[in-house]
Amino acid sequence: MHPSPVTRHPSSAKRLLSGVQPTGNLHLGNYLGAIRNWAALQQQFECFLFLADLHAITVAQDPAKLRAHVRETAAAYIACGIDPKRCAIFPQSAVSEHCELAWILSCHTPLGWLNRMTQFKEKAGKHREEASLGLYGYPVLMAADILVYRATHVPVGEDQKQHLELARDIAGAFNRHYGQDYFPLPEPVIMGAATRVMSLRDGTKKMSKSDESDYSRINLTDDADTIAKKIKKATSDSFATMGETIESRPEASNLLTIYGALNNLSREQALAECGGENFSAFKQKLTDAAVAHLAPISAKMRELLASPDYIDDILRGGIEKARGAAGQTMQGVRERVGFLEFSAG
Ligand code: ADP
Ligand code: TRP
Repeated sequence: MHPSPVTRHPSSAKRLLSGVQPTGNLHLGNYLGAIRNWAALQQQFECFLFLADLHAITVAQDPAKLRAHVRETAAAYIACGIDPKRCAIFPQSAVSEHCELAWILSCHTPLGWLNRMTQFKEKAGKHREEASLGLYGYPVLMAADILVYRATHVPVGEDQKQHLELARDIAGAFNRHYGQDYFPLPEPVIMGAATRVMSLRDGTKKMSKSDESDYSRINLTDDADTIAKKIKKATSDSFATMGETIESRPEASNLLTIYGALNNLSREQALAECGGENFSAFKQKLTDAAVAHLAPISAKMRELLASPDYIDDILRGGIEKARGAAGQTMQGVRERVGFLEFSAG
């Protein structure tokens, strides 16, 4: 047997990768379901945390706002405790290997796999024929985001689970086709007490950046008065206490989940503490907890956003590190696929 002529893949260190779309209105769901968990895990992994601007343009974006939201989202990562010295923070669009790998992977992704994606169905809605190819192919780009760093762990909220399963399937398809385990199968990391935070207006709908009602979510940049107003207006019901049949009351259950997550309490502990209270007393407690938690984050974000040059320096450093890692993976991919290699000069 001859040794394989292709480049061995780089070290299989534990690598963590995740990202958020820089589309503004970063909210408590993004924080509790994703960003806070990255901060908790950053010591154990080599981390790549990007701003998913290529994903953002799957729906129309205003260019000036997109630029501002990339810096704002980077500031949010740092304000939530991500250490830029330890983690590469960068805009996805600055590392062209994401797109290059997405194309190659798309050639190994059967349409039937994409047709199962529920998020496309939700986002395209009734206007399926007018939805873009980009929106449809979004999960392949997401698989490329992960595999281009050969990431092993991907911390996300519950809503991204299906996309992660697809990324594993695509990695498997590539590995089978080229006969080597080039890509590790990425593990979804769905952790914490609030993996799916629901809208404050409708406990059956996910809290989302794109909900047209700002009252449906608590944004990381909301001040104390706004947080208080939103929680006060949050949909409630007329049960006497929070604890009464809470599992069948989506709004009450959601608020209790948020309270528990903010205070690092298990569901049982949160219920033991607040189960006997009425809705309005509980809402006051939740307001105090949310304000205490978010005030330092929004203050830090404001401070960072006052120094865009500092943010850009962090992004430049992140891009450099990301390009190095992605370039290394792509060299092995290109060899396996059979593209001719022309070295510079
Ligand atoms: P949105 O769905 O609000 O547009 P993104 O799609 O950019 O937000 O999500 C970024 C990250 O935040 C993903 O890991 C996603 O799973 C997580 N996330 C988004 N919404 C929620 C939520 N309501 N609860 C928990 N995690 C969430
Ligand atoms: N699709 C994710 C979201 O909308 C964002 C994202 C894009 C992502 N690429 C990723 C998350 C890769 C984890 C890994 O929330």
